[in-house]
Order: sequence, then structure tokens, then C-alpha cells
Amino acid sequence: MKTDWYKKAIVYQIYPFSFMDSNNDGWGDIEGIISKLDYIKELGATAIWFSPLYKSPDCDYGYDISDYRDIDEKFGTMRDFDRLLEECHSRGLKVIMDMVINHTSTEHPWFKEALADRNSKYRDYYIIRPGRRVKGRLQPPTNWASTFTGSAWERIEGTDEYYLHLFCREQADLNWEHPEVRQEMADILNFWLGKGVDGFRFDVFNMFSKVWPLQDDDSRKTFQKGAKFFVDGPRMHEFLKELNEKALSLYDSFTVGESFHPSRENALEYIREDNREFDTIFNFAHLDSDNIGGLKFFRKPFDLLQFKDGLFGPQKDSYGLGWNTLVLENHDNPRCVDRFSIDSSRFRYEAATMLAAVTFMGFGTPFIYMGQEAGLTNTPFRSIDEMKDPVSHFVYDLMKSYGMPGPLAFRFIRYGARDHARVPMAWNASVNGGFNRGHEPWQCVNPAYKDINVEKDMAAERSVFRFYQKLLKIKKENAAAIYGKTEEYDHGNRKIIAYSREHEGKRLFVAANFCARSTAYRMPEWVQGAEVLLNNYDRADISGTVIRFSPYQGVVFEK
Ligand code: GLC
Repeated sequence: MKTDWYKKAIVYQIYPFSFMDSNNDGWGDIEGIISKLDYIKELGATAIWFSPLYKSPDCDYGYDISDYRDIDEKFGTMRDFDRLLEECHSRGLKVIMDMVINHTSTEHPWFKEALADRNSKYRDYYIIRPGRRVKGRLQPPTNWASTFTGSAWERIEGTDEYYLHLFCREQADLNWEHPEVRQEMADILNFWLGKGVDGFRFDVFNMFSKVWPLQDDDSRKTFQKGAKFFVDGPRMHEFLKELNEKALSLYDSFTVGESFHPSRENALEYIREDNREFDTIFNFAHLDSDNIGGLKFFRKPFDLLQFKDGLFGPQKDSYGLGWNTLVLENHDNPRCVDRFSIDSSRFRYEAATMLAAVTFMGFGTPFIYMGQEAGLTNTPFRSIDEMKDPVSHFVYDLMKSYGMPGPLAFRFIRYGARDHARVPMAWNASVNGGFNRGHEPWQCVNPAYKDINVEKDMAAERSVFRFYQKLLKIKKENAAAIYGKTEEYDHGNRKIIAYSREHEGKRLFVAANFCARSTAYRMPEWVQGAEVLLNNYDRADISGTVIRFSPYQGVVFEK
């Protein structure tokens, strides 16, 4: 029987590489995660999404899976995982696994067999095509670009054939047209559901279906060339329904899809409650409000109107039809207090708490990325060599190939790098931020850990963690905060963000100052006399309906 537990859920995302290293070998591990479950519970989360724990050669740090039915050694064993599942469940925490099934690692036995034997059945599991001879030179089958720069095709050594990879060349795209591939995927879902996991986050799911026959993209763009042939493909909805029929619907499982710029129409189809596809998908549009054209390395001054459009658009679209998600950070984004034109050296606490209130009081399930709840900041990487994420390196090399000097290219990368979220957690001020007992971690630590860490934050008078606790409690218990309809106020205001949530006669009003100066704002008449439920400052300066906000102040009222 399908229930809707996810509507009241608070999901905490763990990037296992960097959460907690219990055996001091430099890698985070399952034992380490177990040691922190009480902390996650104390925060008020009700579910954990684990970034991939499966076997992987780690070209894309777990997002290139070589065995979907096993745990990678550096994290532990399947027995450890089973215990993790038990420990989570005994605390009332649901477990959400990451499903990366648009592609497998090129180290996956299926891919290896496909290459080793031309007659292997696994050849049809992938998208392998002969190259084209153009003026005597061998060219890839189409002109599509990989999402991670360069051609989306890699030549198979010693042949004139290529395989498709929409991400790294070590991530070979699966051929979802092939019924056996779809059956394998359903079987993998059932394997984990059978163990008792409660749901999945589906990685770049809206690329499963490609337009056949494969063809050139004749548009002039270089970035995302070919996307119209591999995003929201013609059989997407059918494939998702099939996964439901064969696996997801057999359990009370929750599904959230990570999509790559879906059309608005498709986005709604994916989540429509009566559609049996996914429960919800992620919405990231507001996170592009400080970059140019969705390219996160190209910074622009923060645009609050764009933030509002991105945050509220999906809330309005999905209301009454399906469910929404609320996100500020994940393993693919820098820390939120160091973007949106915020100076975290002055306003870290204020901005961390205001952003959380404004985002998570909206319509949808909050997803919190590890460390966000303590207001952790970006890492002052000194050179590209300190960055592990392949994407940072690809884009850096690309910029340099266009003639950009290295130091300048590095400055761009450092603004938007995924590496910021991926450094070891700063638990306390001891060696390596308490991530382990001193072994050099796989990725450098953020030297800020001495000042900015979980332990210190929890003990501080103005604690981001304590604010999150209050916020999440409201989010779980207040019906208007869960089910209310969102109505935006004063959209054109470039300093203030304001909206109400209304449900069965109860109303919340959320308003915040998105700038570093104090700002006055006239609230709607009905807010007069409302109770202050949450405030990231000690007091709110209100006279009549006018509130004089301090820098980055955010207040939630209830009427
Ligand atoms: C998703 C993941 C990202 C990964 C990519 C390829 O966007 O969030 O980390 O690199 O898919 O699997």
C-alpha cells in the first residue's frame, strides 16, 4: 500500500566519502555514518538519502557504478549496510538510495563483456555505433556533446566504433530501448526494496530515453549540443511507468528524480499523482540566480527575482497535482552561504538561517545537504590540483584551451565547483575537523574547520543547527507548512522575499530581507497581530504592518 510519508519527511543527504571516517583510512564509511545517526535524528530529519555506496572505480565518485548489488569496500560491506539500515529504521529514519541507471561504469562486467565479445548479449545493453568517415577521417556517430564537455562518444580502441557517454567517458550510457536492460533495472530496484530500503533518488533520469534513430543536432550551440535528442525523450513516461509496475509499486517506496532541464510540461507529467511515475523531482532553477545561463562557474550579481521565479514556479505548478522538493545545497553545488552575493565572513549565521526559512517553509519536502545545517562554508582551494571533481578539471582545461590564463580559469572554477560540498565534514576543531583521527583524507579539508564546525555551532548562542531544529519542527507539525498553498507577495521587490501558505483557514506569512542592509517592508494587512513563529534575530521591529528588517533577517508569522 502506497502511503504519503514523504510529504512530511525531512531528508538529509549524506555524501559517504566525506561524512565520517571511523577507521581513519581517509575515506568516510558506513560505521562512521552509524556513529552520527543520533545527530541526524537530533536535527529533526526523518529520512536519509545516501549518495552512492555501491562498488565504483570512482571516476565520478560513486556515480559510475560497477556493481549495483554490492557496497564499495572503502565504505564497508553489505553486512555493514544491513546494520546501517537497521540502525536507521530503529530510529525512525527512512533510507533512500541513489540509483544511477542512465549509465554504468565502464568497469561494470556488462560493459567489459560487451567490448570483449562482439557477440555478447551485453553489446545491446549499451549504445554502440560505427563512426562516420568524413573526408576520410573517422568521426563520432553524431555531434552530441557530453554534459561534462567534449564529445559524447568515445572510440572503442582498435575499432571504428564508438559508445555513447553523456557524462564522463567512464560512464557508458545504457540502452533503455532494450527490454532486458529495463528488466535488469527493475530487478536491481527490487533487490534493494526487498532489503527494506524506503525509496530512491534517480540520477539524471530524464536522459534514459533517446530519440531514435540517433541524429546530428543542427543547432549552432556547442554547450549541451544534442540535448533535444536525449532529454525528456519520447519513451520517458513509458519507462518510468514500467519501473513502477515491475518494482516501485510493489512496496511503499518513495521516488525523487533528478532531471536535467526538463520542459515544464514533462516536469509535471513526471510527478502527477495519478500518473504512476515519480512522487516528485528536484527543482534547482532558483540556484541559477547567481550565474549566467545556468553555467555555475560564471558568476553574476545575485538576481532575487530570478531566485523567486525558480523557487515559486514549481510550487505553483505542482500544487494540487503532485509534490514538490525544496533544495539549497547538494553534492553538485557550492555552499549556500557563499553565493547569492552573500558575504559569509559577516553574515554567515543570518544568511544560513534566512535562506533555510525562506526555502523550507515553501511547498515541498526539504532536502538538507550534510553540513548545511551548521552553516558550513566554501573551501579556499589554492589550486586546481586540490580539486578532485573531474568536472572542475574538464572545465578548467576547456577554458585554458580557449586561451584563458590558468589563474583566471581557476577563479571561475572555484566559484561554482562541486568540490566545495565534497570536502570532509567539519565536526569539531580537532585534527581534520574530527572527520577522522589524522590520516590524510581523500580530499583536502576546509581549513575553516577550526572556527566553523558542527560542535562549535551547536554550542553557539546563535546556532544555525538550533535554528534548523526549530524550523524543521514547524515544517513537520504545522499543517499549513506542509500542505498550504503558496501565494507570493511583491514579486517585483528586489530586496524582500515574501509569501504566504494557507491551509484550512490557517495562514503562515514568511518574509525575509535578502540584503546586507536593514530594510523596511509593508506587510499585508492580514498579518497585523499575527504570532511570530520563527525569527533568526532576537526581535522583530514591527509597527503596524511595517517591519524593519535587519540584514538577512527572516521571520515566519502564523495567523
Ligand atoms: C547527477 C549527479 C552528479 C553526477 C551526474 C552523473 O547530476 O548528481 O553528481 O556527476 O549525475 O551521474
